[in-house]
Amino acid sequence: MNKNILLCVSGGIAVYKAVALVSKLSQAGANVKVIMTASARQFVNPLSFQVMSKNDVYFDTFDEKDSSVIAHIDLADWADLILVAPATANIIGKMANGIADDMITTTLLATTAPVWIAPAMNVHMYDHPAVKRNLDRLSADGYKFIEPSEGFLACGYVGKGRLEEPEKITALVQDFFSGKTTPLTDKTVIVTAGALHVPLDEQHVISPQANGAIGRALAHEARMLGAHVIEIENSNLFDAIQQLEAYKIQYPQAILIHAANVPTIKETPIISVEGIKAITFGQKVQGTPMLNILSERWIDFSEKAQLNGQFLATINPQLFAQTLWSYIIKGEEQ
Ligand SMILES: Cc1cc2nc3c(=O)[nH]c(=O)nc-3n(C[C@H](O)[C@H](O)[C@H](O)COP(=O)(O)O)c2cc1C
Repeated sequence: MNKNILLCVSGGIAVYKAVALVSKLSQAGANVKVIMTASARQFVNPLSFQVMSKNDVYFDTFDEKDSSVIAHIDLADWADLILVAPATANIIGKMANGIADDMITTTLLATTAPVWIAPAMNVHMYDHPAVKRNLDRLSADGYKFIEPSEGFLACGYVGKGRLEEPEKITALVQDFFSGKTTPLTDKTVIVTAGALHVPLDEQHVISPQANGAIGRALAHEARMLGAHVIEIENSNLFDAIQQLEAYKIQYPQAILIHAANVPTIKETPIISVEGIKAITFGQKVQGTPMLNILSERWIDFSEKAQLNGQFLATINPQLFAQTLWSYIIKGEEQ
């Protein structure tokens, strides 16, 4: 992989993993340069990145070492690919709003190279509506994401927020440059997850129980397989239906995974899957889904789901999502 990778490191606990990422990318033959934010330098000394990359490390926009170029423009033009890893909630917010007040954000506005963002943060930060809004905006602007994985976080919580492993990021970069397309490249996948509620009055809603684990795992896996993913989670069911109808027009070839739970009351509006390829989870819908998955109780809480007569364990959402996607992709190829 004889490519120029610019690694932009912002200030989260996962900065130490970015050092390993430089090492893995260099071993894979990439030429790596690193820019760090001031906060990132609180976690790891730039010297570690300098040694691993065998290149100078950049952090000051106004430190112009070479008078023949402007450093941030030079780096922006030099890169074949830019990785922002780890990406803090702060840098995601700045990128989503076009702010350029440090070396990284200035370089990111000046580049025409593809930019991949690998968020890493506390699970509650990642779930915050402001962060979600910023991620959605960046997704609409064409940025690609390396989704954080789930697991033990340094802050003591268990959940989504861990920077993806350096080996996995390196493999994604290698696949990108080798032109290897992933099975869902160029596909749009819409996933409903968690509990979709129905308002009873101004102050009250009726909501089923659902932890959203299966829907989120299916969305995560779809992203890993290269899809453009739209998630509708824990929303008002009427709003979700409206959004869905708009997405059907915008993305007529999309695959809908309706994995969210809906209340089983007579006021519950029925989702229409007409005109879209849909996978539903044992729910009443208008139209015929491509695949309907049954479970004894609700999917988040049941231990197995039935897929065309075959039982699959749902206790490990990631494994379930991988199995289901390989099943869907096989069906799509036929
Ligand atoms: C110990 C510690 C760990 C932190 N970890 C994270 C993190 O993982 N993700 C994150 O978004 N912010 C984290 N922060 C907060 C950021 O460092 C802070 O928002 C900072 O302003 C980010 O600046 P930057 O985006 O310019 O690097 C952490 C702060 C501390 C003190």
